[in-house]
Amino acid sequence: MRIDGIEPFLRYEGFLEAARAIHGRPVIEPAIVYANLLVPGQELAVHTDVPEFRGANRKLYPQWLMVVMHHSGLFDEYRMPIATAVGWFNDCHGGAFAFYPQGGDGPAATIPARANTGIILDTDSVFHGVDPVESDSPVPALRPGMQLRWDHGRWLVHDGDAVVARYRWDEIHFSISWKAYCFTDAEERRAWREHREEPGARAHPRSPGRGPPRARSPRGRASRSDVARAHVDRRVREVPAGDRSVRRTAVSPTLPGSVLARSKRAHL
Ligand SMILES: [Fe+2]
Repeated sequence: MRIDGIEPFLRYEGFLEAARAIHGRPVIEPAIVYANLLVPGQELAVHTDVPEFRGANRKLYPQWLMVVMHHSGLFDEYRMPIATAVGWFNDCHGGAFAFYPQGGDGPAATIPARANTGIILDTDSVFHGVDPVESDSPVPALRPGMQLRWDHGRWLVHDGDAVVARYRWDEIHFSISWKAYCFTDAEERRAWREHREEPGARAHPRSPGRGPPRARSPRGRASRSDVARAHVDRRVREVPAGDRSVRRTAVSPTLPGSVLARSKRAHL
């Protein structure tokens, strides 16, 4: 969805300048802006965002597979460096941004949700979440399917036609997320726009007898998700803490086509 008026925000120089510093890449291509609303009692569990690779993204493959690919470290040369900014526009009780700047084994840091403040980081790599949004009044039980609607200056939580909660703006946790691709130069951005350098053009010369067999659905033809899940089930093993080298052999090189074929040549 494109909403008129977002352009100045999308091209906000403060975000662009900070994004250049995140990955040390000067050419920034803003991609998307999200608006996020959380009501009291809601939180966002610690996670990393869904990354993107040249030739592989959430539109083509399962989101969890993209996350596994990044954390495996096997596909770094294909990863799209993305900077994400999170900004807040009201003061909120609770709902602090929690993140782990020294990695998942390090201590957490928090930034309170305060109007006209923000943070920019690589959310595909840095674990982060949102603390529970606090409330002075009892929090109603929420369930999937309820809707949040703006009505005469209040946010209303609807369960069908029934209104189960009413909130003022200052009780709502409102943030925006801004994401941008980061390139080393204009030529690299041009190659990305023209889908050059994507590894999907060449067929993967599989050797007979190598790699696990394809998973098959009951109708005899496997979906991408079935294949990916079968491969991860077969290949991912418990990795001893601190033994990062094991992770480089944990994922099958026969997963989606030539993206992984290149990785096989590079890492195995
Ligand atoms: Fe996130």
